[in-house]
Amino acid sequence: MSRLVVISNRVSDPRKVAAGGLAVALGDALATSGGLWFGWSGKIVEGGASGEGELHQQRAGNVELVTIDLSREDHDTYYTGYSNQALWPAFHYRLDLADFGSGFFAGYQRVNRLFARKLAPLLRDDDVIWVHDYHLIPLASELRSLGCRQRIGFFLHIPLPPPPILAAIPGHEWLMRSFFAYDLVGLQTHEDADHFARFLVGEAHAERLPDGRFSAYGRTMRAQDFPIGIDVDEFQGLAESAESRETEATLKQQYAHRRLLVGIDRLDYSKGLPRRLRAFRELLDNYPENRNSATLIQIASPTRESVDAYADIRHELEGLAGEINGTYGELAWMPIRYMHRTWARKRLPGLYRAAKVALVTPLRDGMNLVAKEYVAMQDEDDPGVLVLSRFAGAAEQMREALLVNPYDIPATAQTIQRALQMPLAERRERHAALLKRIREYDVHAWRKDFLGVLAEAAPPPPVV
Ligand code: F6P
Repeated sequence: MSRLVVISNRVSDPRKVAAGGLAVALGDALATSGGLWFGWSGKIVEGGASGEGELHQQRAGNVELVTIDLSREDHDTYYTGYSNQALWPAFHYRLDLADFGSGFFAGYQRVNRLFARKLAPLLRDDDVIWVHDYHLIPLASELRSLGCRQRIGFFLHIPLPPPPILAAIPGHEWLMRSFFAYDLVGLQTHEDADHFARFLVGEAHAERLPDGRFSAYGRTMRAQDFPIGIDVDEFQGLAESAESRETEATLKQQYAHRRLLVGIDRLDYSKGLPRRLRAFRELLDNYPENRNSATLIQIASPTRESVDAYADIRHELEGLAGEINGTYGELAWMPIRYMHRTWARKRLPGLYRAAKVALVTPLRDGMNLVAKEYVAMQDEDDPGVLVLSRFAGAAEQMREALLVNPYDIPATAQTIQRALQMPLAERRERHAALLKRIREYDVHAWRKDFLGVLAEAAPPPPVV
């Protein structure tokens, strides 16, 4: 059986309870099959080092973790710069926030080349290579130029915008050409796959072959959607932890006569948090029965704080939370409990279970696994209600959630009110349908599906 080699910017020990969506999904995938996981060590080498830091190798169960340090300059241009100030905003439809600053692009190319140079000697001829996310789009072409002929797949965890947005990215021709070094490109949603196909044909003049593959630059590549899921059983198992039980019990006791809503996000402008708070304020304005009763716990974990747009969103959100609490708060009740910190993952199930409503209202999101985790954690006899943005990738699958347009604040407030008032029978019916779907296509099905299609997309290279 071929070995699985996963490459992502972030790497985490799959035996530990991790925090982020990608790290959790990859940890699950690798722990099942075993293999090698390669990426950045999380360490920045200061003082003009070349960035060619030594490799760190560590075994974690059946997974070999290999990581590499980055120099300050490489980190600032490749990760903070091109990945998170150019590609992240552009791929989330925010060209207004995109900075295609000088040096970013060169840093992005340099680190992808560095990754390829360090990884190539560790590869076996029959490895299956799976590259993840926007930081590493050109990695396959760098590997190919070093002579790697293995099957290589790529999965994009963030949205892929429509062709005119992609076409505004300086150097997009090079970026799109890089995709053709892969055998399979996976996207989160049908909509993303459609945008990609239109871009390939319209801008890269790729030919769409009868079997659905695309041909350009002398290579053929398959592209399709694989909506990422969660490990439902593993997550439900977390609910048994002492921390989760304690969180649930405390919150249920505190809110026995009130209603609790929850939002859990990284503090990213794509998550639509200021609009969410405005919708909550509108709920208190328009439906006064919620005053002295409904409380929103909003956890916003710090992220990418050296980027201005993230500092701006933090100030806006903190101003709004203060204003809403100042206007409506009582001695014994505050409408918003806002926390700007990362929460232990093992406490999350308790929080999800205590909340009657979850607000997952990004302006744009690749998938959003919080939506799936909330559903997984509900009591089937008395489930809470998911209010979900139609612009989250999860909305393509989770049609039984209450879908909202987060830009329409009054309509969002009205939908939150509907969620709070929803009769038990309807809650059960919607929840059962959602749970069934996230179980059917969980993270294991996602991995098997992707790797199955990758195996068919290209013949295994001859072993010499
Ligand atoms: O949404 C893309 C993503 O890579 C997630 O999978 C992950 O949780 C998040 O971004 C983490 O971002 P960073 O690695 O920049 O902290």
